[in-house]
Amino acid sequence: MSNIFNQILKLFPPEAAHSITISLLKYFFLLKNIQDDPILKQHILGIEFPNPIGLAAGFDKNAEIILPMLNYGFGFVEVGTITPKPQKGNIKPRVFRLKEDEAIINHLGFNNKGYEKVCKNLKKIQENKFFSGIFGINVGMNKNSKKIDQDYLFCIERLGHYGSYLTINISSPNTPGLRDLQLRGKIENLIKIIYKKKEEISYLKKKPIFIKIAPDLNDEQLRDIALMSLANNVDGLIIGNTTINRSKNLISEYQNKVGGLSGKPLFKDSTLILRKMYIYTNGQIPLIGVGGISNASECYEKIKSGASLTQLYTSLVFKGPKVVMDIKKELSHLIKTDGYKNIKDVVGKSV
Ligand code: FNR
Repeated sequence: MSNIFNQILKLFPPEAAHSITISLLKYFFLLKNIQDDPILKQHILGIEFPNPIGLAAGFDKNAEIILPMLNYGFGFVEVGTITPKPQKGNIKPRVFRLKEDEAIINHLGFNNKGYEKVCKNLKKIQENKFFSGIFGINVGMNKNSKKIDQDYLFCIERLGHYGSYLTINISSPNTPGLRDLQLRGKIENLIKIIYKKKEEISYLKKKPIFIKIAPDLNDEQLRDIALMSLANNVDGLIIGNTTINRSKNLISEYQNKVGGLSGKPLFKDSTLILRKMYIYTNGQIPLIGVGGISNASECYEKIKSGASLTQLYTSLVFKGPKVVMDIKKELSHLIKTDGYKNIKDVVGKSV
């Protein structure tokens, strides 16, 4: 059924298909999630993750479909990116499906309803006595913001009441100046301010704060971020966002569109960056591996390369929600075949 639905959706332009999906999922969704194999369960930063496959940020920008997505089998869902003020994002068309490459290029630019509206959605979830899933809240700055640090502080203070963890997004290529926050000096300043705030506010103290970085950083930048993260007790890193690089092997007519590329062509480079970060941080910081995962062996490779958890987005668009159950089933099998007792034992094993 969901396969037929997915085929129909592909007939619509990407953004229209996405809006239809969100609207439908708000009202019609699976009620029950099948219990995960206990071999996939892990405790990370005080949170019990039933399985290591998360929905990456950008799919549920306004926290409207957390429960439906958890019911499709995701171990956790990351909502956002959310900015202090609502914003429309860049001019359309700004999402392109590179069908032949199983990739997407997006130039959305943090289109979202702003923290106030999202808070209302999150409040409803908090008040729902039957809700018990894990979700993270990904925050960013408004376009042309003059007070970038303040935007992040504002969001974590207001939204930090909710969810299981927070993510600081400093790696989207579609907001001018955002990725510069990853540069030496700037990143340390920002992280220091954010983690100081975390210590000051009681409801933030126990909430892990992840930093999401780009897959386009060079070795020196990666080492800088690793050292800075170790020195400032950063809780975790997400590796990574979409890439501005274009592989020579792309064949789709849309390959030169401006924006961030995600999906299959991103897998190799983002996994290499993940592996390097695992080495530079001595395996001491939990990493979430994202980029190009579309099957269990790719998910397994991310984990063996140092990811404690993983996320996906683009393969959900091309394969439909079935991809989550398929990955989980095969992942359990791979872990057992290799003789491991729990997924935790696999983390970083090929590094
Ligand atoms: C994204 N991604 C993203 N990331 C983020 O931190 N905030 C965001 O708002 C968005 N928005 C967004 C929109 C669209 C249309 C796509 C395809 C992606 C990036 C996403 O979370 C993920 O890091 C990359 O897409 C790589 O994973 P996949 O898609 O290759 O599995």
